[in-house]
Amino acid sequence: MKKNIKEWFLKRVPVDVENTSKVMSEIMLKEPIPSHMKHWYYALGAAPLILFIIQVVTGILLTFYYIPSTEMAFESVRYITEEVRMGFYIRGLHRWGSNLMVITIFLHMLRVFFTRGYRKPRELNWVLGVVILFVTLTLCFTGYSMVYNQLSYWAATVGTNMIKEIPLIGLPMLELLRGGTEVTGNTLTRFFNLHIGFLPTILLVLLALHIIMVRVHGVSKLEGREDDEKTYPFYPEHFYHTLIIGLFILSVLSALTVILPPGLGEAANPSVTPNHIKPEWYFYGIYSLLKFIPIKLGIYLITIFVLIGTFFPFIDDYLRTKLPKVKVHYIFGILSAVLFLFFTVFEMFSN
Ligand code: HEM
Repeated sequence: MKKNIKEWFLKRVPVDVENTSKVMSEIMLKEPIPSHMKHWYYALGAAPLILFIIQVVTGILLTFYYIPSTEMAFESVRYITEEVRMGFYIRGLHRWGSNLMVITIFLHMLRVFFTRGYRKPRELNWVLGVVILFVTLTLCFTGYSMVYNQLSYWAATVGTNMIKEIPLIGLPMLELLRGGTEVTGNTLTRFFNLHIGFLPTILLVLLALHIIMVRVHGVSKLEGREDDEKTYPFYPEHFYHTLIIGLFILSVLSALTVILPPGLGEAANPSVTPNHIKPEWYFYGIYSLLKFIPIKLGIYLITIFVLIGTFFPFIDDYLRTKLPKVKVHYIFGILSAVLFLFFTVFEMFSN
């Protein structure tokens, strides 16, 4: 029976099964993994990948009930949370998953940065990583706005307002994103399309490129242990490590969903501005900084910082030849992490 089915398929899809499975097993299963990948902080690369898969699955389930219209968006989220069987759980996994994805990406960046994994020949993979970070943050921003409650409506208004400050292209970009001058039903339709179609597809392609680049270069060696050649095969050890990380993440997400389920708030009301508008915590740093200095200056400073961060592998390479004794990357890394933490915590405790 099994043989007949196989023959039936092979007549219609004529592939060289034996050769293909040999090549696939060589690529997928036997890849030699350097032994230092067993350190826990190297699990921080697999974590956002697993979370991305969780986000795609839970996101697809949410679209079964979510309605992207100004009249129905909030009501459909309420319906998912309060009436659909297991709806609160799927929504909770999706909401907490987005937070954990941002946290694990930040931690993965720190790991790569402080183990100098961005240095030659991996500079372009770092740049690609920064693009991945921005696409992920835009996914979070558009997703949060889709709940269409007071907080998310006004966070979308304030967040998109900043785009206006970009010289020359700011205003046309703002209108393109909002579908007009204000945040309306047009904005919600655009955010919905970005959130469920365009951005996840782009992210999938970027992640595939990122992993291909990691495979092409191999993971960087630890400094001082460059001639350590010990490796272990991807399957079964690394595969099972990844599976355990996946199960751990799912347990953490489930616990968070049950203990701290995402709430609903009040339905969006464009004519009433709430007293305290707050974006999601990962934007606190920028939001808080812009309270201290004029918006235009803040946007310029943030742009400069992002450009330095994106091209840091090249800047670091240049500075190391000019100032071989100064650990520039330590100074930049620690300063950035401390400033980010300071402004985030400050905003957390301010009204
Ligand atoms: C969803 C987001 C991301 C995923 C799923 C991901 C996944 C991975 C994986 C699986 C590795 C192999 C080594 C490891 O597991 O630590 C890796 C390495 C790397 N990642 Fe990411 N990454 C993401 C985001 C980023 C970001 C935001 C950056 C930097 C801005 C970045 C830069 C790098 C670099 C340069 C390497 C090579 C490091 C080395 O060889 O030591 N990645 N990434």
